[in-house]
Amino acid sequence: MLEGRYNRAADAVLGAQKIAWAKAHMPVLRRIAERFRRERPFSGERVSIALHLEAKTAYLAQVIAEGGAEVTISGSNPLSTQDDVAHALAQSGVRVYAERGVDPETYFELLADNLKTRPTLLIDDGGDLVKLLHAEFADLADEVIGGAEETTTGITRIKALKREGRLRFPMIAVNDAQMKHLFDNRYGTGQSVLDGLMRTTNLTVAGKTVVVAGYGWCGKGVALRAHGMGANVVVTEIDPVKAIEAHMDGHRVMTMYEAAAVGDVFITVTGGYHIIGAEHMSRMKDGAMLANAGHFDVEIDLPALRAMSVAASDVRPNVTAYRLADGRTLYVLAEGRLLNLAGADGHPAEIMDMTFALQALALEYLVQKKREGAPLTPGLYPVPEAIDRRVAEMKLEALNITIDRPTAEQADYATRWA
Ligand code: ADE
Repeated sequence: MLEGRYNRAADAVLGAQKIAWAKAHMPVLRRIAERFRRERPFSGERVSIALHLEAKTAYLAQVIAEGGAEVTISGSNPLSTQDDVAHALAQSGVRVYAERGVDPETYFELLADNLKTRPTLLIDDGGDLVKLLHAEFADLADEVIGGAEETTTGITRIKALKREGRLRFPMIAVNDAQMKHLFDNRYGTGQSVLDGLMRTTNLTVAGKTVVVAGYGWCGKGVALRAHGMGANVVVTEIDPVKAIEAHMDGHRVMTMYEAAAVGDVFITVTGGYHIIGAEHMSRMKDGAMLANAGHFDVEIDLPALRAMSVAASDVRPNVTAYRLADGRTLYVLAEGRLLNLAGADGHPAEIMDMTFALQALALEYLVQKKREGAPLTPGLYPVPEAIDRRVAEMKLEALNITIDRPTAEQADYATRWA
């Protein structure tokens, strides 16, 4: 058994069942795995992964390992690792450094242990692995062929590294592929955040005023699904175009200051900082619930809430009640961390099937370019269009959906100006 660090007391049998269920619903990734087993595109490579370690992620790690890589994995958030899955994954031969509920210091220690394996390829979600490599393991950077980043937040951080001229290897922006954000960010986040809200609270969504902060692809999905469940949706935005989009989609649009007074549930999905602050919490209704679906736990100003509170207690798993001096109680879900992963199982498997197919093929592309003698230079790259399209085609085939092809006449017509 490989060395690693994870909760060995967790139920590996349950973890293995969860992985098997995810795999059964990820046909595109299964098909890629089949090819990887034959072709071994990653033989000789060491792959470090930092992703939310739940069942779909575990299957991705196994697929990369089946492609011949030595794989090491850590979580990408202190509260999203599922210990049973981590244990089962370690038993299957992937080196695991991940445990649920660790403090931030330990979380980074686990990422550091991961990097000590001297990776040649990376998969990151949120940018912590790439940040740590640049900050504390810079001597390893020359060995890195490249990496792939899953989220908007991670890509924002890579852009900042690049702007400062400090990015040391190529990174592929998986989030920006169509087959990622159009489905994962919108429908994945939409469904899994509502799942997290319902599992965490066991309360109705219908009839509640749900305030969604941020109308990017993730916010659109949350608003769409909350509306579908019968909520009155309010959207807050700073981008005038997105605000109009939200308005045209049928949601009420207002400032957070206005929304604070009417909301029953607040969900931040902005990727920003202190979107809900003391000035908002001081206006909220007694019993209002605050949750976050952005990558980091900084969207709700929790230090301000603690300072305003006279008492705090856990009233249900993942629900903390803050009693304020004026007698009101505000509830924070999942400590303000990603509600869909800390309070549920993350996106549905059929959606992560597409996202993780892109991740697997992006890594293969990086290796191919190197082996062709044309390695990518340090920078941020899109997923090649051919890969995006191929994932769409494989998904359609898996869904047994056939689409039309243009006739020669139609193709010709589309090229004419007159
Ligand atoms: N499962 C694994 N990674 C995930 C992500 N980034 N979002 C939602 N669910 C996930």
